[in-house]
Amino acid sequence: MKKIILDCDPGHDDMIAIILACSSDEIDLMGITTVAGNQTGDKTFINTLKVLTLINRIDIPVARGFDKPIFRKLTVAPRIHGVSGLDGADLPEPNIELLERVKTLDIHAVDFIIKSVKESDEKVTIVPTGPLTNIAIALLKEPSIKDNIDRIILMGGAVYDSNITPASEFNIYVDPEAAKIVFESGIPITMVGLDVTNKAILTFKDIEELNNLQGGVSGVIAPLLKFFAQANKDFFGIGGAPLHDALAVSYIIMPDIIKTKYLNVTIETEGKYTRGRTVVDVYNITGKEPNVDVAFEVNSLAFKKLIKNTIKKLDQR
Ligand code: BDR
Ligand code: CA
Repeated sequence: MKKIILDCDPGHDDMIAIILACSSDEIDLMGITTVAGNQTGDKTFINTLKVLTLINRIDIPVARGFDKPIFRKLTVAPRIHGVSGLDGADLPEPNIELLERVKTLDIHAVDFIIKSVKESDEKVTIVPTGPLTNIAIALLKEPSIKDNIDRIILMGGAVYDSNITPASEFNIYVDPEAAKIVFESGIPITMVGLDVTNKAILTFKDIEELNNLQGGVSGVIAPLLKFFAQANKDFFGIGGAPLHDALAVSYIIMPDIIKTKYLNVTIETEGKYTRGRTVVDVYNITGKEPNVDVAFEVNSLAFKKLIKNTIKKLDQR
């Protein structure tokens, strides 16, 4: 069982990442921290509480983080995730007990990350699935936590692909300075980027299959995923819902699900047209030391099975 902290900005694919992290026997979820990204900080925080309420995991600690990137203005993604960040169906309102517990905990995401990593008796895996603001600031505030972080497995970037500008992936584009701090931290990093996550798809047919179950969880999730799939079809011509963030979590559950290459990656923070580009030195042209395990291949079928089975099991509880 791996101890993990999930740092996310729900977001439809973040929602599935949360559900996987909460449901796997391979994962000991220490807590969820939230960050502004797909939507404002208010919305990503409330969405997280709503998802936990839906799957009845009000025991999971939640800490709210930054409402904006370190230097930049916040960019949100309403075209893909809607104005709520989770458009497509009504999730239940946050459970009162959960709300109370989060209030009592009263800790910023950065301090939650620092405290949890410091106090952990084994090394912690950090799984960021939004802009890297919270993680970068935690590393700056308390650099010693690096020693107790096993690895950062992040959804972000791409070798060849892009989605927010012709050059960049959303999470890295939103806070490139934070990404630079994390990528240069010396901590082992796995980058699960668009090249693989755009192949981690639930098709419209898969979503319909879930919808037909009409269970307590599937009945809510299926219309949400339908909205997300339609947006991805309209904007990127993708034939379903690419569950980017869930792939990063599934890599902990099934380490064979992606294949990586150890390469040098730098973050473009200044480019006029290339802000947030993950510059991956595939052929070691620069001769720089590798610093990131970059995902290149994905077992899409195994991924799809994992997602469907997880949702079906939740329906049966
Ligand atoms: C990433 O951006 C967000 O919209 C998704 O939640 C995912 O984390 C994909 O580029
Ligand atoms: Ca996300």
